[in-house]
Amino acid sequence: MRLEVDITSKEYRNAAGERHAVISGLKFTLGTGEVGVLVGPSGCGKSTMLRIFAGLDHDYQGHVSRPPGVRIGMVFQEPRLLPWRSVEQNVRLVAPLVDEARLSALFAILELGEHRNHFPGELSLGLARRVALARAFAIEPDFLILDEPLASLDQALAARLREQIAMLVDSRSVMTLLVSHDIDDAVRLGDRVFLLSPRPTHIVAELPIPTPRGARSEAGIAAIKADIAQRMTATALESANVTMARISPREARED
Ligand SMILES: Nc1ncnc2c1ncn2[C@@H]1O[C@H](COP(=O)(O)OP(=O)(O)OP(=O)(O)O)[C@@H](O)[C@H]1O
Ligand SMILES: [Mg+2]
Repeated sequence: MRLEVDITSKEYRNAAGERHAVISGLKFTLGTGEVGVLVGPSGCGKSTMLRIFAGLDHDYQGHVSRPPGVRIGMVFQEPRLLPWRSVEQNVRLVAPLVDEARLSALFAILELGEHRNHFPGELSLGLARRVALARAFAIEPDFLILDEPLASLDQALAARLREQIAMLVDSRSVMTLLVSHDIDDAVRLGDRVFLLSPRPTHIVAELPIPTPRGARSEAGIAAIKADIAQRMTATALESANVTMARISPREARED
């Protein structure tokens, strides 16, 4: 099972009808059981590319090939729960075959047991995100797409859920793409970290993390985080240089 991505370009039109490029030259593959983490500046096009990978947006130039019949579990950046359905109904709606034992286990893992009969309007954002995670896990996905799933959770809970995501991914060899602004999440969960440029986005660096998730030492994690931070700084400088290069010497002098 393999995801192949080769998006030459993706554009949006604004309200005035002007086109602006969001993705330009995004190319990578991802295999079974691999976790790819996408890290990039706000607004660069991460959510846009996840929608394309999930097959929800076909309006782009290029090619994305998902394994045929792949079961996709997706957590959107906003929890997107049906407000008139309870927590349990929201999950059962997408996973009608889930049995009671598995559902209870999932709610226990995500610390949602007491909220089972609550409605989305009664939940905090962090709780709603956990329901969205339960919904994605309940279908027993082969391909998990997670858009900042651990945002707005406290550190201790985020760490527990990170463990659960890692367990799920490793136990079933789930192909996973995760967007995160948190380098710590990226390094603890990812097998490969993709650093993205500002819009129009493309991969500026790809960092493989060969040590298996469970065997990473705190010192090893700290070293990779430092490497990523350094590369991100270099990328920011690089894109600043690109901007400068587009300005003619005369304009630059006048600035
Ligand atoms: N439906 C749309 N129509 C027009 N422009 C859009 C649309 N959706 C997103 N955009 C624009 O495309 C760019 C990328 O948006 P996207 O939501 O993919 O960014 P992102 O990397 O996920 O940002 P963040 O980290 O803040 O979530 C932004 O400039 C955004 O304004
Ligand atoms: Mg986004």
